[in-house]
Amino acid sequence: MNLDNPVAVKFSQAAATYKQHDVLQRITASRLIKLANTEYNADKKTGLTGHLLDLGCGPGTDFESNHCQLTKVTAVDLSPQMLNVVQQSFPQYHTVCADAANLPITANSMDSIYSNLVLQWCDELTQVFNELNRVIKPQGQAFISVVSDGSLSQLETLGLGHNSFRHLDDIIAAIDTEKWQILSAETTTEQVHFADLKALLYSIKGVGASVNEYQDKSLTDKKTNRLRGRKDWLALMDKAESLREANGLPLSYNISYLQLGKR
Ligand SMILES: C[S@@+](CC[C@H](N)C(=O)[O-])C[C@H]1O[C@@H](n2cnc3c(N)ncnc32)[C@H](O)[C@@H]1O
Repeated sequence: MNLDNPVAVKFSQAAATYKQHDVLQRITASRLIKLANTEYNADKKTGLTGHLLDLGCGPGTDFESNHCQLTKVTAVDLSPQMLNVVQQSFPQYHTVCADAANLPITANSMDSIYSNLVLQWCDELTQVFNELNRVIKPQGQAFISVVSDGSLSQLETLGLGHNSFRHLDDIIAAIDTEKWQILSAETTTEQVHFADLKALLYSIKGVGASVNEYQDKSLTDKKTNRLRGRKDWLALMDKAESLREANGLPLSYNISYLQLGKR
């Protein structure tokens, strides 16, 4: 395990159970693939084609059953445990343990890039976009989804805090438009539903976000600012029930989808 990096540690711990809580990831993956697999891209032989870099691959994505015509997949992740899962599920993929901001990959070697729900964890976003630009061939396209500002509003209603996310404008500001053409950029709200509060909170862990503090003082021990135990947990579950919809307990994410072309 990469013990120097808290993000790698967090995702390595989640690797074994990740697929049980990846509802959001599957929704955003299918949107990204749809964005790439257009008739226009097929005619131009662009989109998710040739040698693909899957940046922040997690346990890996089945591109073949999603009708992507790829010749090779290089799957990159910070977490060695995630890459172990990739090797089990997709032995044909080439795996690389690396940070998005510093890729041990030859310049101009990738035909396309896919990155689903990863860049929200990258502090040096400009460097990451520059690095992606370095490794992709001219005219190659990158398809990227990022968790953005305004996500997880239900947690605030429950009095729970969480880490913050960038606004789409800040993500765009990190892109060097002399290197990249922004072909599309938009934020969509994706809502997912869960049977109960426990499943909802587990799913957040899978995305890598953290529910880091309890802001509702009536539910907390003033000294630790944490839930005191069963009584607080039951009160929180009650509160969550007031949010319930026909499909279950809702959780919304604002997801920014980007399609970039190397100039
Ligand atoms: C929410 S998961 C998404 C995984 C996968 N893309 C999917 O669609 O299920 C985020 C992944 O990004 C990886 N990651 C986070 N920061 C990274 C970085 N700076 N460089 C490479 N991978 C990173 C994590 O280890 C984790 O596997």
